Amino acid sequence: MSSFLLLFSLLSSVVLADVVNLHWNITWVTAAPDGFARPVIGINGQWPCPELRAKLGDQVIVTIDNQLGNQSTGLHWHGIHQTGTSYMDGASGVSQCPVAPGQQFTYNWTADAAGTYWYHSHDMGQYPDGLWGPLIIEDPNPPFEYDEEIILTLSDWYHEQSADLISAYQSPSGEALDGVAPPSGGALMNSGKNITIHVKPNKTYFIRVICPASYPGHAWLFQDHNQTTVEVDGTYVQPKEANGNGLLTRIAPGQRQGVLIKTFNDTSKNYAIWDTMDVNMLFINKGIIPPPMNYNTNVTGWLVYNESAPLPDPPVFYSLGNANFFDDLDYVPLDEEPLLEPVDHQIVLDTNSVNISGISRFEINNYTYLPAKVPSFYSAITTGNYSSDPEVYGHVNPIVVKKGEIIEIVINNLNTNLHPWHMHGHQFQVLDRPDPMFGKFNGTFRTGYPHAAPVRRDTFMLQDQSWGVIRFKADNPGVWLLHCHIEAHTSSGFVATIIEAPEELAQTNFRIPQDHIDACKTYPMKYFGNAAGNIAPTNLTGANVDVPSYDYGAMYPPGTPPPFKR
Ligand code: C2O
Repeated sequence: MSSFLLLFSLLSSVVLADVVNLHWNITWVTAAPDGFARPVIGINGQWPCPELRAKLGDQVIVTIDNQLGNQSTGLHWHGIHQTGTSYMDGASGVSQCPVAPGQQFTYNWTADAAGTYWYHSHDMGQYPDGLWGPLIIEDPNPPFEYDEEIILTLSDWYHEQSADLISAYQSPSGEALDGVAPPSGGALMNSGKNITIHVKPNKTYFIRVICPASYPGHAWLFQDHNQTTVEVDGTYVQPKEANGNGLLTRIAPGQRQGVLIKTFNDTSKNYAIWDTMDVNMLFINKGIIPPPMNYNTNVTGWLVYNESAPLPDPPVFYSLGNANFFDDLDYVPLDEEPLLEPVDHQIVLDTNSVNISGISRFEINNYTYLPAKVPSFYSAITTGNYSSDPEVYGHVNPIVVKKGEIIEIVINNLNTNLHPWHMHGHQFQVLDRPDPMFGKFNGTFRTGYPHAAPVRRDTFMLQDQSWGVIRFKADNPGVWLLHCHIEAHTSSGFVATIIEAPEELAQTNFRIPQDHIDACKTYPMKYFGNAAGNIAPTNLTGANVDVPSYDYGAMYPPGTPPPFKR
């Protein structure tokens, strides 16, 4: 492209872009999605939280106003790369300070990649309380045709508040469960039970399936309908068809999948949408003790063609052991981006659960993530020449990578459970991920892997006692978490921090927005220096070296809001 044409196309995209400007009050509201009323976290007095929709190229500006009274908060835009805006990524203690009650905080980022995403709290293990919603970046020219769009969320739901669950889990009684988080009260579909979705005959629907679950993965099926996958985690893929009987499609916490279904001509019948949580993930004591036999892992909804016709009974799945799955390694990105090579820097992560002073934690290469006293991004921009020294970041499992490198990360899962790994700031190629019990990666891929154009996504499910290999190009300077998306595991230290091109971050004349500094001052948390908040970069005196306290104090309500406890 000539530079004139390039300039012209840049200008035309600037002209077409809009600003999506939102003001969100974050408050406790009461909801009963499964019939049990409890306090949940809503936005502008509503729960479920609203869908956020922007067009490709739009500027998204969301001001949050924390009116929770008793908890801090923050929002992460899951799957959005935040190119050049790592400090808008929303990870508390990493890219910003937690936003204390009474504070406002503005996120401002560019919707630079079309696709299906979601947003959620990334503070205090809070999103299972309901603080999440779909985030859709519309493509003016999608590579497939459809008539209408439907959003389908598959999640789990606890009757207890997250802060209570985490403080119990991070206590000696939680350790008895061998790192297994407590099972939830059950599954939800579109934040409800027995939901109906009205469809018209002879139409193509683009269904954006989102899994904002906090613990097990899910698997779903549209009864009798063929479904064609066209997108995974914001990557368009070559259409892959699964027929509507017997072949379940798996989705891990954090993942999204865009599928097309064509409705029938005949409107005399209705059809079930079956969803089940992966019961294999709920076994405790090294995978030996199953959840109670009467534990219901299923939730059902219906595609309704005809209001007066009956809603067919759903099947009951207990074990996914004999179900068939389409392997997500076999999706091919539509752009056929070739396997990234050669590798400049290989990182091997051995991961497992561990007991630290009676508390159930997770570790990566023998270290559990301990929060820094300064958000890691702020350390990267305030430690000058030392910003590429992992030591300055403390116990956040820092992985420093250089600009432009091709990074390969091997994750060895020595644990007896499955874990969904998510990386901020990037989509990665998934090279290989064998079945359970494959042990550690020995340098050899399975026959046929990696594919020439591996699937690219931001979250992938790692099998129990097995390994996975991913690659990405370090082309997005910033500080990005790489973590297990089971929320209880994130809180128990199953987190690494990619410090990407820190020398570049430290050299720009970047200034932290004033409201971001105010959030730190109010919380309070330091916003410069190393992980201990010290100016001398290698003086870590005072840094966190112990597992933090998860006693967040009284829950909300009853009565007047309990005091805010950090
Ligand atoms: Cu969807 Cu680090 O999160």
